[in-house]
Amino acid sequence: SVDVSGLVDAEGGLLDRAIFTDEQIYRQEMRRIFAPSWLFLAHTDQFHRPGDFFTTWMGEDPVIVTMDKGRKIRAYLNSCRHRGARVCRADFGTTRNFTCTYHGWSFDLEGDLVSVPNKEGYPESFETSQWGLVEVPHVESYHGLIFGTWNPSPVSLRESLGDMAWYMDAMLDHDEQGTVVVGGVHKWVLEGNWKLAAEQFATDWYHVNMSHASALQVLAPAGKKPKQEIVHRSGRQYVDPNGHGAGFPVHPRNRFDAKTVHDWFDYDALRERLGEARVEGPLTNGHATVFPNFSYLPVNGSIRIWHPKGPDRMEVWAWTIVDKSMPEEVREAQRLYNLRTFGPSGVFEQDDGENWSEVQAIAGGFITNSVALNYQMGMGGEREDGRHPGRTSELYSDAAGRSFYARWRELMNTRAWHEEDRA
Ligand code: FES
Repeated sequence: SVDVSGLVDAEGGLLDRAIFTDEQIYRQEMRRIFAPSWLFLAHTDQFHRPGDFFTTWMGEDPVIVTMDKGRKIRAYLNSCRHRGARVCRADFGTTRNFTCTYHGWSFDLEGDLVSVPNKEGYPESFETSQWGLVEVPHVESYHGLIFGTWNPSPVSLRESLGDMAWYMDAMLDHDEQGTVVVGGVHKWVLEGNWKLAAEQFATDWYHVNMSHASALQVLAPAGKKPKQEIVHRSGRQYVDPNGHGAGFPVHPRNRFDAKTVHDWFDYDALRERLGEARVEGPLTNGHATVFPNFSYLPVNGSIRIWHPKGPDRMEVWAWTIVDKSMPEEVREAQRLYNLRTFGPSGVFEQDDGENWSEVQAIAGGFITNSVALNYQMGMGGEREDGRHPGRTSELYSDAAGRSFYARWRELMNTRAWHEEDRA
Protein backbone atom coordinates (compact mmCIF):
# COMPACT_ATOMS: atom_id res chain seq x y z
CA SER A 1 0.00 0.00 0.00
CA VAL A 2 1.00 3.63 -0.48
CA ASP A 3 1.76 5.66 2.65
CA VAL A 4 0.02 8.94 1.79
CA SER A 5 1.46 10.91 4.73
CA GLY A 6 3.87 12.74 2.45
CA LEU A 7 1.11 13.73 0.04
CA VAL A 8 -1.34 15.34 2.46
CA ASP A 9 -0.10 17.93 4.93
CA ALA A 10 -3.52 18.72 6.41
CA GLU A 11 -1.95 20.65 9.29
CA GLY A 12 0.14 22.85 7.00
CA GLY A 13 -2.59 23.08 4.34
CA LEU A 14 -0.57 21.55 1.50
CA LEU A 15 -1.67 18.88 -0.93
CA ASP A 16 0.17 16.86 -3.56
CA ARG A 17 -1.73 16.39 -6.81
CA ALA A 18 -0.79 12.72 -7.03
CA ILE A 19 -3.86 12.05 -4.92
CA PHE A 20 -5.95 13.08 -7.96
CA THR A 21 -4.02 11.17 -10.60
CA ASP A 22 -2.27 8.10 -9.22
CA GLU A 23 -3.87 4.79 -10.18
CA GLN A 24 -2.47 2.92 -7.18
CA ILE A 25 -3.80 5.53 -4.78
CA TYR A 26 -7.17 5.32 -6.48
CA ARG A 27 -7.26 1.52 -6.03
CA GLN A 28 -6.34 2.00 -2.38
CA GLU A 29 -9.27 4.41 -2.01
CA MET A 30 -11.61 1.63 -3.12
CA ARG A 31 -10.23 -0.62 -0.36
CA ARG A 32 -9.74 1.85 2.46
CA ILE A 33 -12.13 4.78 1.85
CA PHE A 34 -15.12 3.31 0.04
CA ALA A 35 -15.21 -0.23 1.48
CA PRO A 36 -15.24 0.79 5.18
CA SER A 37 -17.24 4.08 5.01
CA TRP A 38 -20.98 4.69 5.15
CA LEU A 39 -21.98 5.46 1.55
CA PHE A 40 -25.19 7.05 0.33
CA LEU A 41 -27.39 4.59 -1.57
CA ALA A 42 -30.83 6.09 -2.22
CA HIS A 43 -33.79 7.98 -0.75
CA THR A 44 -36.49 6.05 1.12
CA ASP A 45 -39.13 7.56 -1.19
CA GLN A 46 -37.76 5.36 -3.98
CA PHE A 47 -39.18 2.27 -2.23
CA HIS A 48 -42.89 1.89 -1.56
CA ARG A 49 -43.65 -1.77 -2.02
CA PRO A 50 -41.75 -5.06 -1.92
CA GLY A 51 -39.69 -5.50 -5.08
CA ASP A 52 -39.10 -1.79 -5.73
CA PHE A 53 -35.41 -1.54 -6.54
CA PHE A 54 -32.74 0.98 -7.48
CA THR A 55 -29.27 0.09 -8.76
CA THR A 56 -26.25 2.15 -7.79
CA TRP A 57 -22.56 1.92 -6.88
CA MET A 58 -20.53 1.74 -3.71
CA GLY A 59 -17.17 2.92 -4.97
CA GLU A 60 -16.86 0.82 -8.12
CA ASP A 61 -18.92 -2.05 -6.72
CA PRO A 62 -22.39 -2.28 -8.28
CA VAL A 63 -25.24 -2.75 -5.81
CA ILE A 64 -28.99 -3.32 -5.90
CA VAL A 65 -31.03 -1.57 -3.24
CA THR A 66 -34.47 -3.12 -2.79
CA MET A 67 -37.40 -3.54 -0.44
CA ASP A 68 -37.78 -7.20 0.56
CA LYS A 69 -41.05 -9.04 1.25
CA GLY A 70 -40.95 -7.92 4.87
CA ARG A 71 -40.62 -4.28 3.66
CA LYS A 72 -37.05 -4.05 4.88
CA ILE A 73 -34.60 -2.08 2.73
CA ARG A 74 -31.65 -4.27 1.82
CA ALA A 75 -28.69 -3.95 -0.52
CA TYR A 76 -26.81 -6.62 -2.46
CA LEU A 77 -23.72 -6.76 -4.58
CA ASN A 78 -25.10 -6.67 -8.12
CA SER A 79 -23.00 -9.55 -9.38
CA CYS A 80 -24.11 -13.07 -10.16
CA ARG A 81 -22.37 -15.76 -8.15
CA HIS A 82 -22.02 -17.92 -11.29
CA ARG A 83 -19.82 -16.01 -13.75
CA GLY A 84 -20.17 -12.54 -12.30
CA ALA A 85 -22.57 -10.70 -14.62
CA ARG A 86 -24.85 -8.09 -13.11
CA VAL A 87 -28.15 -9.69 -12.14
CA CYS A 88 -30.01 -6.42 -12.57
CA ARG A 89 -29.19 -4.05 -15.40
CA ALA A 90 -32.14 -1.70 -15.06
CA ASP A 91 -31.66 1.65 -13.29
CA PHE A 92 -34.79 1.17 -11.19
CA GLY A 93 -38.13 -0.65 -11.26
CA THR A 94 -40.21 -3.28 -9.50
CA THR A 95 -39.59 -7.01 -9.68
CA ARG A 96 -40.22 -10.34 -7.99
CA ASN A 97 -36.79 -11.78 -8.72
CA PHE A 98 -33.46 -10.68 -10.11
CA THR A 99 -32.71 -13.03 -12.99
CA CYS A 100 -29.25 -13.05 -14.52
CA THR A 101 -29.38 -12.63 -18.28
CA TYR A 102 -26.24 -14.72 -18.86
CA HIS A 103 -27.37 -18.26 -17.88
CA GLY A 104 -30.55 -17.56 -15.95
CA TRP A 105 -29.73 -17.97 -12.26
CA SER A 106 -32.45 -16.20 -10.36
CA PHE A 107 -32.38 -14.53 -6.92
CA ASP A 108 -35.32 -13.42 -4.80
CA LEU A 109 -35.76 -10.17 -2.87
CA GLU A 110 -34.02 -11.74 0.12
CA GLY A 111 -30.97 -12.42 -2.06
CA ASP A 112 -31.48 -16.21 -2.08
CA LEU A 113 -30.70 -18.21 -5.20
CA VAL A 114 -34.11 -19.64 -6.06
CA SER A 115 -33.74 -20.96 -9.59
CA VAL A 116 -30.88 -22.58 -11.49
CA PRO A 117 -31.53 -23.82 -15.07
CA ASN A 118 -30.33 -27.44 -15.62
CA LYS A 119 -29.64 -27.79 -11.94
CA GLU A 120 -29.36 -31.59 -12.32
CA GLY A 121 -25.96 -31.03 -13.96
CA TYR A 122 -24.44 -29.83 -10.71
CA PRO A 123 -22.89 -32.20 -8.15
CA GLU A 124 -24.79 -33.28 -5.02
CA SER A 125 -22.65 -30.96 -2.95
CA PHE A 126 -24.07 -27.92 -4.78
CA GLU A 127 -26.32 -26.08 -2.32
CA THR A 128 -28.27 -23.12 -3.61
CA SER A 129 -28.21 -21.69 -0.07
CA GLN A 130 -24.45 -21.22 -0.48
CA TRP A 131 -24.76 -19.14 -3.65
CA GLY A 132 -27.07 -16.26 -2.79
CA LEU A 133 -26.27 -12.64 -3.54
CA VAL A 134 -23.63 -11.07 -1.32
CA GLU A 135 -25.46 -8.71 1.01
CA VAL A 136 -24.26 -5.30 2.17
CA PRO A 137 -24.04 -6.08 5.91
CA HIS A 138 -25.26 -2.73 7.24
CA VAL A 139 -27.94 -0.51 5.75
CA GLU A 140 -29.32 2.37 7.83
CA SER A 141 -31.22 5.52 7.06
CA TYR A 142 -31.23 9.04 8.45
CA HIS A 143 -34.31 11.21 7.78
CA GLY A 144 -34.97 9.50 4.46
CA LEU A 145 -31.37 9.12 3.32
CA ILE A 146 -30.30 5.48 3.04
CA PHE A 147 -26.65 4.63 3.55
CA GLY A 148 -24.82 1.30 3.48
CA THR A 149 -21.39 0.06 4.43
CA TRP A 150 -19.40 -3.11 3.77
CA ASN A 151 -17.69 -2.64 7.12
CA PRO A 152 -18.75 -5.67 9.22
CA SER A 153 -18.54 -3.73 12.50
CA PRO A 154 -19.10 -0.05 11.80
CA VAL A 155 -20.05 2.68 14.20
CA SER A 156 -23.73 3.47 13.61
CA LEU A 157 -24.62 5.83 10.77
CA ARG A 158 -25.91 8.36 13.31
CA GLU A 159 -22.66 8.21 15.25
CA SER A 160 -20.58 8.63 12.11
CA LEU A 161 -22.57 11.77 11.25
CA GLY A 162 -21.93 13.30 14.68
CA ASP A 163 -22.73 17.02 14.82
CA MET A 164 -23.16 17.02 11.04
CA ALA A 165 -26.67 15.68 11.65
CA TRP A 166 -27.68 19.02 13.18
CA TYR A 167 -26.75 20.76 9.93
CA MET A 168 -28.41 18.07 7.77
CA ASP A 169 -31.67 18.45 9.68
CA ALA A 170 -31.92 22.00 8.35
CA MET A 171 -32.72 20.39 5.01
CA LEU A 172 -34.31 17.10 6.03
CA ASP A 173 -36.38 17.76 9.12
CA HIS A 174 -38.68 20.72 8.45
CA ASP A 175 -41.72 18.80 9.73
CA GLU A 176 -42.92 15.34 10.76
CA GLN A 177 -43.60 14.26 7.17
CA GLY A 178 -39.99 14.46 5.98
CA THR A 179 -38.93 14.66 2.35
CA VAL A 180 -39.78 13.04 -0.99
CA VAL A 181 -38.04 12.86 -4.35
CA VAL A 182 -39.39 14.85 -7.30
CA GLY A 183 -38.47 13.84 -10.85
CA GLY A 184 -35.87 11.23 -11.68
CA VAL A 185 -32.18 10.87 -10.90
CA HIS A 186 -29.98 12.97 -13.17
CA LYS A 187 -26.68 11.33 -14.11
CA TRP A 188 -23.74 12.85 -15.94
CA VAL A 189 -20.03 12.23 -16.39
CA LEU A 190 -17.28 14.71 -15.52
CA GLU A 191 -13.58 14.54 -16.24
CA GLY A 192 -12.29 15.06 -12.72
CA ASN A 193 -11.33 13.15 -9.59
CA TRP A 194 -14.29 12.59 -7.25
CA LYS A 195 -12.52 14.40 -4.38
CA LEU A 196 -12.45 17.70 -6.29
CA ALA A 197 -16.24 17.84 -6.10
CA ALA A 198 -16.55 16.37 -2.60
CA GLU A 199 -14.02 18.79 -1.06
CA GLN A 200 -15.56 21.81 -2.80
CA PHE A 201 -18.99 21.03 -1.40
CA ALA A 202 -17.43 20.52 2.04
CA THR A 203 -15.37 23.67 2.21
CA ASP A 204 -15.50 26.07 -0.71
CA TRP A 205 -17.68 29.15 -0.70
CA TYR A 206 -14.59 31.11 -1.77
CA HIS A 207 -15.06 30.25 -5.47
CA VAL A 208 -18.61 31.62 -5.60
CA ASN A 209 -17.83 35.27 -6.42
CA MET A 210 -15.37 34.47 -9.17
CA SER A 211 -16.59 31.22 -10.72
CA HIS A 212 -20.27 32.05 -10.57
CA ALA A 213 -20.00 35.80 -11.24
CA SER A 214 -22.07 35.76 -14.40
CA ALA A 215 -24.63 33.32 -13.00
CA LEU A 216 -25.07 35.49 -9.90
CA GLN A 217 -25.70 38.51 -12.07
CA VAL A 218 -28.29 36.66 -14.10
CA LEU A 219 -30.13 35.45 -11.00
CA ALA A 220 -29.86 38.64 -8.93
CA PRO A 221 -33.04 40.72 -8.78
CA ALA A 222 -33.00 43.45 -11.42
CA GLY A 223 -30.80 46.41 -10.45
CA LYS A 224 -29.34 44.64 -7.41
CA LYS A 225 -25.88 43.21 -6.98
CA PRO A 226 -25.37 40.18 -4.73
CA LYS A 227 -24.08 41.34 -1.35
CA GLN A 228 -21.12 38.99 -1.14
CA GLU A 229 -19.19 41.13 1.30
CA ILE A 230 -21.96 40.74 3.86
CA VAL A 231 -22.18 37.02 3.16
CA HIS A 232 -18.46 36.65 3.73
CA ARG A 233 -18.43 38.38 7.07
CA SER A 234 -21.48 36.73 8.53
CA GLY A 235 -21.27 33.17 7.20
CA ARG A 236 -19.77 30.16 8.93
CA GLN A 237 -18.21 26.89 7.87
CA TYR A 238 -18.73 23.73 9.91
CA VAL A 239 -15.62 21.57 10.29
CA ASP A 240 -16.31 17.96 11.25
CA PRO A 241 -13.58 15.69 12.65
CA ASN A 242 -14.89 12.81 10.49
CA GLY A 243 -14.27 14.77 7.30
CA HIS A 244 -17.77 16.16 6.76
CA GLY A 245 -18.18 19.88 6.15
CA ALA A 246 -20.80 22.55 5.48
CA GLY A 247 -20.72 26.24 4.68
CA PHE A 248 -23.53 28.78 4.84
CA PRO A 249 -24.11 32.50 4.86
CA VAL A 250 -26.19 33.73 7.77
CA HIS A 251 -27.47 37.03 6.45
CA PRO A 252 -31.24 36.72 6.09
CA ARG A 253 -31.43 39.06 3.10
CA ASN A 254 -29.39 36.63 1.09
CA ARG A 255 -31.61 33.73 1.94
CA PHE A 256 -33.57 32.34 -0.90
CA ASP A 257 -33.92 32.55 -4.64
CA ALA A 258 -37.03 30.50 -5.50
CA LYS A 259 -39.75 32.92 -4.48
CA THR A 260 -42.65 30.47 -4.64
CA VAL A 261 -40.81 28.13 -2.27
CA HIS A 262 -39.66 30.96 -0.04
CA ASP A 263 -43.21 32.30 0.28
CA TRP A 264 -44.56 28.86 1.15
CA PHE A 265 -42.20 28.25 4.09
CA ASP A 266 -43.56 29.05 7.52
CA TYR A 267 -40.40 30.47 9.05
CA ASP A 268 -41.94 30.89 12.51
CA ALA A 269 -42.77 27.18 12.62
CA LEU A 270 -39.30 26.34 11.34
CA ARG A 271 -37.71 28.53 14.01
CA GLU A 272 -39.70 26.72 16.65
CA ARG A 273 -38.66 23.31 15.37
CA LEU A 274 -35.07 23.96 14.33
CA GLY A 275 -34.07 27.08 16.24
CA GLU A 276 -33.03 30.51 15.01
CA ALA A 277 -29.40 29.54 14.34
CA ARG A 278 -30.37 26.83 11.88
CA VAL A 279 -33.06 28.82 10.08
CA GLU A 280 -30.76 31.83 9.65
CA GLY A 281 -27.85 29.57 8.75
CA PRO A 282 -27.70 26.11 7.24
CA LEU A 283 -31.31 26.29 6.00
CA THR A 284 -30.38 29.21 3.74
CA ASN A 285 -27.96 29.07 0.84
CA GLY A 286 -25.20 26.66 1.57
CA HIS A 287 -23.23 23.59 0.62
CA ALA A 288 -22.25 20.39 2.41
CA THR A 289 -20.49 17.05 2.07
CA VAL A 290 -20.93 13.93 4.13
CA PHE A 291 -17.60 12.14 3.90
CA PRO A 292 -16.63 10.67 1.54
CA ASN A 293 -18.80 11.39 -1.50
CA PHE A 294 -22.34 12.50 -0.64
CA SER A 295 -23.13 16.20 -0.96
CA TYR A 296 -26.16 18.43 -0.80
CA LEU A 297 -27.43 21.98 -1.28
CA PRO A 298 -30.20 22.79 1.19
CA VAL A 299 -31.76 25.71 -0.66
CA ASN A 300 -31.85 23.84 -3.96
CA GLY A 301 -33.09 20.58 -2.54
CA SER A 302 -30.22 18.93 -4.41
CA ILE A 303 -28.67 15.75 -3.03
CA ARG A 304 -25.92 14.15 -5.02
CA ILE A 305 -23.25 11.52 -5.05
CA TRP A 306 -19.87 11.70 -6.77
CA HIS A 307 -19.29 8.16 -8.03
CA PRO A 308 -15.60 7.48 -8.63
CA LYS A 309 -14.89 6.18 -12.15
CA GLY A 310 -11.10 6.04 -12.21
CA PRO A 311 -8.63 8.65 -10.89
CA ASP A 312 -9.65 11.28 -13.43
CA ARG A 313 -13.34 10.72 -13.90
CA MET A 314 -16.53 10.82 -11.85
CA GLU A 315 -20.19 10.23 -12.47
CA VAL A 316 -22.53 12.69 -10.78
CA TRP A 317 -25.94 11.39 -9.70
CA ALA A 318 -28.34 14.05 -8.45
CA TRP A 319 -31.81 13.97 -6.93
CA THR A 320 -34.16 16.83 -6.13
CA ILE A 321 -35.87 16.41 -2.78
CA VAL A 322 -38.67 18.52 -1.31
CA ASP A 323 -40.76 18.55 1.84
CA LYS A 324 -43.54 15.99 1.50
CA SER A 325 -45.96 18.61 2.82
CA MET A 326 -45.29 20.93 -0.16
CA PRO A 327 -48.22 21.35 -2.56
CA GLU A 328 -47.69 20.36 -6.17
CA GLU A 329 -47.00 23.85 -7.54
CA VAL A 330 -44.39 24.55 -4.86
CA ARG A 331 -42.68 21.24 -5.54
CA GLU A 332 -42.57 22.10 -9.22
CA ALA A 333 -41.10 25.54 -8.45
CA GLN A 334 -38.39 23.90 -6.37
CA ARG A 335 -37.66 21.32 -9.06
CA LEU A 336 -37.32 23.98 -11.75
CA TYR A 337 -35.19 26.20 -9.53
CA ASN A 338 -32.83 23.32 -8.84
CA LEU A 339 -32.69 22.43 -12.54
CA ARG A 340 -31.87 26.02 -13.54
CA THR A 341 -29.06 26.26 -11.01
CA PHE A 342 -27.68 22.81 -10.24
CA GLY A 343 -29.19 20.48 -12.83
CA PRO A 344 -26.75 18.98 -15.36
CA SER A 345 -27.05 22.13 -17.48
CA GLY A 346 -27.65 24.47 -14.53
CA VAL A 347 -25.85 27.80 -14.50
CA PHE A 348 -23.84 27.04 -11.36
CA GLU A 349 -23.29 23.37 -12.06
CA GLN A 350 -21.67 24.17 -15.40
CA ASP A 351 -19.18 26.51 -13.74
CA ASP A 352 -18.21 23.92 -11.15
CA GLY A 353 -17.77 21.08 -13.63
CA GLU A 354 -15.59 23.31 -15.79
CA ASN A 355 -13.32 24.08 -12.82
CA TRP A 356 -12.88 20.46 -11.76
CA SER A 357 -12.11 19.32 -15.31
CA GLU A 358 -9.63 22.18 -15.68
CA VAL A 359 -7.77 21.20 -12.50
CA GLN A 360 -7.80 17.54 -13.51
CA ALA A 361 -6.68 18.09 -17.10
CA ILE A 362 -3.22 19.32 -16.08
CA ALA A 363 -2.76 17.51 -12.77
CA GLY A 364 -0.89 14.60 -14.35
CA GLY A 365 2.04 16.60 -15.70
CA PHE A 366 5.37 15.53 -14.21
CA ILE A 367 6.43 18.98 -12.98
CA THR A 368 2.82 19.98 -12.22
CA ASN A 369 2.61 16.99 -9.97
CA SER A 370 5.58 18.19 -7.91
CA VAL A 371 4.04 21.60 -7.15
CA ALA A 372 1.90 21.57 -3.99
CA LEU A 373 -1.62 23.00 -3.81
CA ASN A 374 -2.62 25.56 -1.18
CA TYR A 375 -5.35 24.80 1.39
CA GLN A 376 -4.21 27.35 3.99
CA MET A 377 -7.09 29.81 4.08
CA GLY A 378 -8.49 30.33 7.57
CA MET A 379 -5.67 28.37 9.17
CA GLY A 380 -6.19 28.01 12.91
CA GLY A 381 -9.51 29.84 12.78
CA GLU A 382 -11.79 26.98 13.86
CA ARG A 383 -13.49 27.40 17.19
CA GLU A 384 -16.72 26.78 19.05
CA ASP A 385 -18.80 29.81 18.13
CA GLY A 386 -21.57 29.36 20.71
CA ARG A 387 -24.29 29.33 18.06
CA HIS A 388 -23.59 26.25 15.93
CA PRO A 389 -22.57 22.81 17.25
CA GLY A 390 -19.05 21.50 16.85
CA ARG A 391 -16.28 23.70 15.53
CA THR A 392 -16.79 26.32 12.84
CA SER A 393 -14.57 28.71 10.94
CA GLU A 394 -15.08 31.77 8.77
CA LEU A 395 -17.15 31.01 5.69
CA TYR A 396 -14.20 31.76 3.40
CA SER A 397 -11.87 29.08 4.68
CA ASP A 398 -10.25 25.77 3.75
CA ALA A 399 -10.80 24.41 7.25
CA ALA A 400 -13.33 21.72 6.32
CA GLY A 401 -11.13 20.82 3.34
CA ARG A 402 -8.15 20.27 5.60
CA SER A 403 -10.33 18.13 7.84
CA PHE A 404 -11.68 16.21 4.81
CA TYR A 405 -8.13 15.36 3.73
CA ALA A 406 -6.98 14.59 7.26
CA ARG A 407 -9.76 12.00 7.47
CA TRP A 408 -8.87 10.72 3.99
CA ARG A 409 -5.22 10.36 5.01
CA GLU A 410 -6.15 8.57 8.23
CA LEU A 411 -8.30 5.98 6.40
CA MET A 412 -5.80 5.57 3.56
CA ASN A 413 -3.08 4.75 6.10
CA THR A 414 -5.26 2.36 8.12
CA ARG A 415 -5.52 -1.29 7.26
CA ALA A 416 -9.19 -2.07 6.58
CA TRP A 417 -10.95 -5.07 8.12
CA HIS A 418 -10.59 -7.13 4.92
CA GLU A 419 -6.81 -6.71 4.98
CA GLU A 420 -6.34 -7.87 8.57
CA ASP A 421 -6.13 -11.58 7.74
CA ARG A 422 -3.81 -10.89 4.81
CA ALA A 423 -1.20 -9.19 7.02
FE1 FES B 1 -25.28 -15.29 -14.02
FE2 FES B 1 -24.22 -17.31 -15.35
S1 FES B 1 -23.35 -15.39 -14.92
S2 FES B 1 -26.20 -17.16 -14.55
